[in-house]
Amino acid sequence: MKKLTIAIDGFSSCGKSTLAKDLAKELNYIFVDSGAMYRGIAYYVLQNKLFINGEPDKITLINKLDEITLAFEYNPEKFESDLLLNGIIISNEIRKPEVAAIVSKIAVLKEVRTKLVKTQQKLGELGGIIMDGRDIGTVVFPFADIKFFVTADPTIRAERRYKELILKDPTLTLAAIKANLDERDFLDTTREISPLKKANDAIEIDNSNLSREAQLAFALKLIKQRTIGL
Ligand code: CDP
Repeated sequence: MKKLTIAIDGFSSCGKSTLAKDLAKELNYIFVDSGAMYRGIAYYVLQNKLFINGEPDKITLINKLDEITLAFEYNPEKFESDLLLNGIIISNEIRKPEVAAIVSKIAVLKEVRTKLVKTQQKLGELGGIIMDGRDIGTVVFPFADIKFFVTADPTIRAERRYKELILKDPTLTLAAIKANLDERDFLDTTREISPLKKANDAIEIDNSNLSREAQLAFALKLIKQRTIGL
């Protein structure tokens, strides 16, 4: 069968990466978490203390973008890829609340998006890829073979993220996580450049009441239906 390009977009913490990883394993495709790359840039801002009046210093960041190299490297112990910032693994650091707090303010920047979209398109050149994010079906791979748009009830999304993060940081609260998801969804859907929106040809999956296995089975069935004869 032809090596497909599969795009998965959706709101914060709606299970996009879980679906993308499960599909990649099932189809033996490459999985790319584009959000990790935006988080990598946000981590660079924190690491280099690029702030003005408590907000990310966008001008200095834009001037330093050429000094930032992001790369994925497969880690056979974890059965998934690590993200490297200028050669250093930052996979754990990018999941921290400090990063989540600023990432969407950085993702609005045209220069940041141009740089990352170019890298993402290069990663997908040969097909056989599943990428998740906010603008994959609309901007990165507008001609993707299959596009999914994943949604879930905002309270359920916050509870899922809380369960995931509380294991690492017991000081976190559900209310703080919900506030961060709401803020990011607002910034991501209202920004001028590449806002999060469902592509016209995307298939919507509301996984509020779907198990991980049911979500995977549903997506696989649709992929098979759509690719008969390809
Ligand atoms: O894991 P979660 O759904 O919370 O977010 P993520 O996929 O790690 O993405 C973090 C942030 O990066 C998002 O809230 C967006 O602001 C930004 N992002 C983006 O603008 N475009 C993408 N293709 C992926 C992420």
